[in-house]
Amino acid sequence: MKWPERAPSGRYAYVNGRYLPHGHAAVHIEDRGLQLGDAIYEVFRAEAGHLLDETGHLDRLERSLAALELPMPVTRAALRLILRELLRRNRVRDGIIYLQVTRGAFRRDHPMPEGPAKPTLILTARAGDPAAAAARLADGVKIITLPDERWARRDVKTTQLLPAVLAKTAAKRAGAAEAWLVDGEGFVTEGGSTNGWIVDAAGTLITRPLSREILPGVTRGVVLAAAKEAGLVVVERKFTVAEALQAKEAFLTSASGAAVPVVAIDGKPVGNGHPGLLTLRLQALYAGKSGSGPG
Ligand code: PDD
Repeated sequence: MKWPERAPSGRYAYVNGRYLPHGHAAVHIEDRGLQLGDAIYEVFRAEAGHLLDETGHLDRLERSLAALELPMPVTRAALRLILRELLRRNRVRDGIIYLQVTRGAFRRDHPMPEGPAKPTLILTARAGDPAAAAARLADGVKIITLPDERWARRDVKTTQLLPAVLAKTAAKRAGAAEAWLVDGEGFVTEGGSTNGWIVDAAGTLITRPLSREILPGVTRGVVLAAAKEAGLVVVERKFTVAEALQAKEAFLTSASGAAVPVVAIDGKPVGNGHPGLLTLRLQALYAGKSGSGPG
């Protein structure tokens, strides 16, 4: 098979046990990931050839699979090797690895098929732009707020991302990098693909507690632990958009950027409109914590 738009040569994807040229990698049209969104995913970041927070992402992968009653398609040890081999074959040192597990290809029918599992495992790797990532961390980003229109199990990292697609498109069209999603009571749940944090006037770090309403961000966990270890005051509680607008600082965490400063919300500056000092300190704390190697 050949897609009309060929991927850059030299790029490889992993599909069910095989490394294939990216432009030739494909799954069956009856795959339940495509047909029903019956699939979960993970995003790993590589920095200078090392996978950041690898164990945390593997833990969450197992958790997502369990929520869908899916087995691990390969062992953890095999997955660690595949991740490294994919980086090597794609010559990626700084970038991301995308991993997806679907329930596999079956005749379309909503209930989970009976019989042995035959999940589809796909992985792709792509190089990032370290200069652009560094600029985002240094300069910060603007965000907008929108109603949270997602389902009730946001703690599971499923590929059903249409609400995030719509929210992040609206953000992009408004010249913003992210949309903070707001629940029915006016509290921020999280960003379309990031967790949200604020710092109040007293210097307290505030982020929403884990529940079914947000994704348990791996980066969130690492930043939270690092902040506590450094003696910072952290409170896990809900916060409103009004509170965020009064906050001294605000920032985002995700595999694609730990502690990305938020400098404006809905066109209004956060704090003095520049990245906050605590946010910049957390970037440094994260860098010392995110780990590398086998993990
Ligand atoms: N997004 N919240 C949501 C809804 C997310 O999709 C993500 C990750 C996060 C942050 O999680 P972590 O720190 O584990 O990356 C929070 C990934 C990066 C994505 O969809 O590309």
